[in-house]
Amino acid sequence: MDYKNKTILITGASSGIGRELAISLAEYSNNIIVTARRENLLNELKQEIEAKGSKCLVFAGDAADPKHADLVVNETVKKFGKIDIAILNVGVGPASNTIKDSREVILGKMRANYDTLINFFVPIIAQMKSQKTPCMIAHVNSLATYFGIPMQGDYTAAKAAGRIFLDTARMELKHFGFKHVRIQTIHPGFVATEAVKEDGVPAPNEISEKEAVQYILKGLLREVHENRFPFATSFAVRIGRLAPTWLRTKILLSEAAVDY
Ligand SMILES: NC(=O)c1ccc[n+]([C@@H]2O[C@H](COP(=O)([O-])OP(=O)(O)OC[C@H]3O[C@@H](n4cnc5c(N)ncnc54)[C@H](OP(=O)(O)O)[C@@H]3O)[C@@H](O)[C@H]2O)c1
Repeated sequence: MDYKNKTILITGASSGIGRELAISLAEYSNNIIVTARRENLLNELKQEIEAKGSKCLVFAGDAADPKHADLVVNETVKKFGKIDIAILNVGVGPASNTIKDSREVILGKMRANYDTLINFFVPIIAQMKSQKTPCMIAHVNSLATYFGIPMQGDYTAAKAAGRIFLDTARMELKHFGFKHVRIQTIHPGFVATEAVKEDGVPAPNEISEKEAVQYILKGLLREVHENRFPFATSFAVRIGRLAPTWLRTKILLSEAAVDY
């Protein structure tokens, strides 16, 4: 998908990857709609976006609330008439523990990573089906989506749910004649954002936010179904998926925290 002169919605844009992406896309005369809960950060971002020549709408709210998502989509379409690209980026993944955490914590991770995707996906897909030109929903998932990882069980489970849901949506769009709607899943490896700075999870081959955004922009242009990066981590994950469970477990636990 070309990302010039387009209407682009980015959820979770107040910090990290989403913010950096919004700033990069602002260079291409776009209408950029940004969402998150921290309104002050979104308002600062709006100024940066407009200084680069793009238009910007801010919607502060909780992506776990379906009413917020409906409002964002309705108001965007009212103002700009369509959505060309939706980058659904909201997600959180602090270290966790499957045998110690409460139900609230574990299910909260599903809400933060899966419900926040579906709340936006449903009204966006309804809108995009009615559009005539190529458009795309891109979900910021993770390379941690393919198998359980110690201290990230709830996060990896929620990201896996999102990946499988969107794989199915892609098939159904094609099958039912909505080929103009593209679905892309973006799988970053470790990215040095504020959110993961002190999460205690080892981060081999970590890349910067700027590097992550360059990979994301290339992936949008190439319209790949799954955009995995960087290569070293993506390759290691591929080997991990092929490895027998006992070997993968041994390798993953060699990196896990000793303190229970
Ligand atoms: N950093 C990594 O190593 C890494 C690796 C792989 C994948 N990812 C994925 O990349 C995405 C961005 O992560 P990041 O590292 O850039 O972290 P981040 O800076 O914390 O970004 C998360 C964004 O989502 C927003 N958000 C979180 N919960 C929300 C909610 N309930 N409603 C509305 N907005 C919400 C946050 O803003 P507010 O707090 O203002 O709401 C923030 O703008 C996530 O999906 C994450 O899983 C990150």
